[in-house]
Amino acid sequence: MIHRQSHQQSNQQHPVNLRGQIANWVAQVIYQGQSANVVTQQIAEQVTDPRNRALARKCLFGVCRQFEQLDWAISQLLQKPLKKNQWSLQSLLLSSVYQLLYLNTAEHAVISESVNACRQMEKDWAAKLVNGVLRNALRQKQSLLEQTNAPEKVQYSMPDWLLKRFKNAWPKHWQAICEQSNQKAPLTLRLNRSHANAKSSDALLQSAHIEFKTHPVAKDARILDEARNVQDIPEFATGLFSVQDISAQLAAALLPVNAGDRVLDACAAPGGKTAHLLEMHPELSLTALELEAARAEKIHQNLQRLNLTAQVIIDDAQTYSVQQPFDAILLDAPCSATGVIRRQPDIKQHRRDEDIWPLVQLQNAILTNLWQQLKPGGHLLYATCSILPDENQKQIKKFLKQQSDAALVTLPDTVLKTGTDTGFGLQLFPQRDHDGFFYSLLKKSS
Ligand SMILES: C[S@@+](CC[C@H](N)C(=O)[O-])C[C@H]1O[C@@H](n2cnc3c(N)ncnc32)[C@H](O)[C@@H]1O
Repeated sequence: MIHRQSHQQSNQQHPVNLRGQIANWVAQVIYQGQSANVVTQQIAEQVTDPRNRALARKCLFGVCRQFEQLDWAISQLLQKPLKKNQWSLQSLLLSSVYQLLYLNTAEHAVISESVNACRQMEKDWAAKLVNGVLRNALRQKQSLLEQTNAPEKVQYSMPDWLLKRFKNAWPKHWQAICEQSNQKAPLTLRLNRSHANAKSSDALLQSAHIEFKTHPVAKDARILDEARNVQDIPEFATGLFSVQDISAQLAAALLPVNAGDRVLDACAAPGGKTAHLLEMHPELSLTALELEAARAEKIHQNLQRLNLTAQVIIDDAQTYSVQQPFDAILLDAPCSATGVIRRQPDIKQHRRDEDIWPLVQLQNAILTNLWQQLKPGGHLLYATCSILPDENQKQIKKFLKQQSDAALVTLPDTVLKTGTDTGFGLQLFPQRDHDGFFYSLLKKSS
């Protein structure tokens, strides 16, 4: 049980019930379309006890990850489904069943606190029902986890439409894609090679007892054995490290650039790849383009921490145009983000099948416009964190047909080995060490 911030406690007649609060946060994401990142921010602001904060976050992300399994388990435990308007109660059941099936929290506390939460939610009538469902969940834990006779979407904890797309696109990989998408991702750092302490960076991590692995291709990556607060990472504040997945760290090395080149990073916020490009090539003249002003602000904050400089422009990449074309362009296009479900599991709740086609059209519009802003002989690196062919290899295939001065460039073998060569670019699937990502390098004829 937790209390609100101390200044509010004197007015508070009843202590706030953590399980009730968790149910409210889960409801916001699952039933009210709020993003898990926004709700995580609320949790950080409202829960002062670090253990309660960690539990709330674990439940929120856990329910998003295992939603299909939990929803099915509840349907097995209830004699008849709850009415549609009982989403706060359903959210309480989702988060409490999640704790009983997947976490090592004390079982009696989960049950009694969830029953108390009913009273606080002014649903005293539901206390007996919640008690019964949770006690049965405990008794049937094994069979609920085995999911005997459960539909495929439950076994793979993936919405039907996404499961169908993964199966059609990747008949050999779809099961591994689903399994990996439901795992927790590691915290991966990117070392800033241009920082004064770059040479002693590994020693600094070791002296802070931070265990890590390196990666054969992403040379600047340090994959931490255990996630931790970035404030605990040596010299994070001075810009020695940034947080960035391995897949995203490949972009800067894949775009061919020369000293002094004018480079555009289109769709740039929050600026992870902008910063990496500048860390690797401090002499570039870099423009970072972003549609949303609030997100562009994040590019400024990141560049400031890393002591880097770029021209940040707020504009629409579908229509943005320049007098003097760029030598190279990185287009990290807005996409379905189906390759990063393990980091943003609420994508499974928020994306819909019908969102994909408008995204494909937007990507084509941006690609077509930016191609006009590229010098003859220049390179454009197209990237997405999607694993759907419509946004990736099919997008590039269509573009090459439509644009006679565009040619596909073969990526280095070392990089191609990290994923699957689609014939129109490299597809990385989500795996233990990296997210799902797509890269295609195009050259404009001279
Ligand atoms: C995949 S994220 C980019 C991540 C970024 N490259 C990084 O590495 O940190 C895509 C970005 O494109 C922006 N965006 C979406 N539509 C856009 C448009 N029409 N013009 C410019 N930016 C756009 C989104 O706001 C979002 O910040």
